[in-house]
Amino acid sequence: MKKLTTSLIFATAMATCLAADPTFTVDASRPAGKVSPKLYGLMTEEINHSYDGGLYAELIRNRVFLDDAATPVCWSVVNDNGSAATIALDSTNSFNDKLTTSLRLTVTKAAKDHPTGMANSGYWGIPVQPRTSYRASILARADSNFSGPVTASIVSNDGRTVYATGKFSGITTDWKRFELTLKTGRAAPTAAARFVITLDQPGTVWFGLVSLFPPTWNDRPNGLRKDLMQMLVDLNPKFLRFPGGNYIEGDTVETRFEWKKTIGPIEERHGHPCPWGYRSTDGMGLLEFLEWCEDMKAEPVLAVYAGYSLKGMHVNPGPDLEPFVQDALEEIEYVIGDTNTTWGAQRAKDGHPAPFKLTYVEIGNEDWFDKSKSYDARFAQFYDAIKARYPRLKVISTIGNDQPETSHVHSRRPDMTDEHYYRSVDEFIRMSPEYARKYDRTGPEIFVGEWAAYEDPKVKPWEAGARQQPPTPSMKAAIGDAVFMAAMERNSDLILMQCYAPLFVNVNPGARQWRPDFIGYDAISTYGSPSYYAFQMFSRNLGDEILSTASLETSVQGSATRDSKTGEIILKLVNPKATAESLKIEIKGLNALDSKGSAITLTGNLEDSNSITQTKKIVPVTTTVRGVKPGFTYKMPPHSIVVLKLKARS
Ligand code: AHR
Repeated sequence: MKKLTTSLIFATAMATCLAADPTFTVDASRPAGKVSPKLYGLMTEEINHSYDGGLYAELIRNRVFLDDAATPVCWSVVNDNGSAATIALDSTNSFNDKLTTSLRLTVTKAAKDHPTGMANSGYWGIPVQPRTSYRASILARADSNFSGPVTASIVSNDGRTVYATGKFSGITTDWKRFELTLKTGRAAPTAAARFVITLDQPGTVWFGLVSLFPPTWNDRPNGLRKDLMQMLVDLNPKFLRFPGGNYIEGDTVETRFEWKKTIGPIEERHGHPCPWGYRSTDGMGLLEFLEWCEDMKAEPVLAVYAGYSLKGMHVNPGPDLEPFVQDALEEIEYVIGDTNTTWGAQRAKDGHPAPFKLTYVEIGNEDWFDKSKSYDARFAQFYDAIKARYPRLKVISTIGNDQPETSHVHSRRPDMTDEHYYRSVDEFIRMSPEYARKYDRTGPEIFVGEWAAYEDPKVKPWEAGARQQPPTPSMKAAIGDAVFMAAMERNSDLILMQCYAPLFVNVNPGARQWRPDFIGYDAISTYGSPSYYAFQMFSRNLGDEILSTASLETSVQGSATRDSKTGEIILKLVNPKATAESLKIEIKGLNALDSKGSAITLTGNLEDSNSITQTKKIVPVTTTVRGVKPGFTYKMPPHSIVVLKLKARS
């Protein structure tokens, strides 16, 4: 790859010849490099209830009753006016060897017109939307005296309003799956509701699984929440890194993300403990991740388990590691293999005959934490096996330039390295001007696979104090994010992909483990943080040529790209100061610019943010800019992020 030294030379030259006006200079005489077309993407894992209680649209919490071995958490008895019911976990009566317990509902007295049974509180409520069809399904069997039916309803928490109701009939002593549609009428949206199952007569019914889905994105049966998907699609992501993060590693080898346990019908998925302190249903399995990519027109960046887990366990390279290497090869076959391969055929059986596109496979996650220093040898074993079977795939090492050189992989040359930056706003402002400038342009490609700015340098994202702060970051953090994104964009000939992390947070108390997060939600509403909008402004306005830039006599940082097809020049400018900046914008190497351009601006007080109750306090605003020419002055508002779009004229 060509050395990108033009920026530095240009900056020095400009510094010596220009006056003291705050100036942002762009060299449009020639491109300084090519912008990576995959620069902006997403990273995801199960954290902060990202899937269960988040993107994965299932509404029933503890749907297979395995969340707690002692009690049926999130389920409660519904007894009313002299009726009587009990519920209990029953491990002697399970649907199959994956769903190892069932929930036994016994009604001893059923009063006419009074619902008697059990209720599920959902993930902080069951969202009710007007005129909406919900798909309810159960796995159930009954004792021989019970002749049914079982009534399923969505009911307000106070029991007064039944939003939708239907009946499952034909339940016998044999396990069977039942499904029905529940339709709401003209209800006002609310999450103050629960899912209630009642019996009209005494009897016992065992449930192996209870599920309720609202309409999903692209109507996928085991699909994703529409409002959250819309927010993601609006970011125009080119890739999705999954399934972690720490989630791929698990606390222990046994609790890693085992992809084979996440495919097939949901009744075949036992779920597993997630390292972020709660149980994952595995409803969001390998195929769901891949279809999620497909639905966003993004490419998967597949992280495979590489023999290191968070509590410090590692698998020795060599024969001990070999089964894990084979497992990764099979996982890749599931993703890209033809239907005449074993795992390609399994994918077809699971409902997706066409192979997915895959370019990058990441070996593990943050393996610099492995004190045994086994990563180099583990990486080599995976690398050799993957390259032998799939020579065109690119293999990513999880140890990048943010870690000491001595910890890097040396025995092989990774195609790409992944570096992570959780930094305070001040630190990003300080480090961004020089970030990556000195990187070896002949070295591996770079992926910034996790990054985010946080406001208070004393409160780190993973510390308990962070959970006392609002779940999503403020305008201040967006400023830190934007200067770092501009730096990555300036170096996007080498930094080919970047993604903010974590992506999601359920804002309910007790739901979150990490902050800051990009997108917040509860059962019924969703919103983007200022950081989300800053990212959107960057990702949706990107040229294909990097132009060299220099900031002179100003604290404004930025980047410039050009769309080679239209000639449009796109400047990203960030003013971290509390005062407006009259910025001279010098564009060298152009004869003329259209006098009319446009500006997309995100600005606000540093402490301002969006929230679940005020979802649009900080959003980008588009305006027309007049008087544009190769040297013109643009007034940057205080604490602002601006995308300027300028048209070149010949
Ligand atoms: O993004 C949260 C966590 O930060 C990720 O799981 C891990 O990779 C990193 O340490």
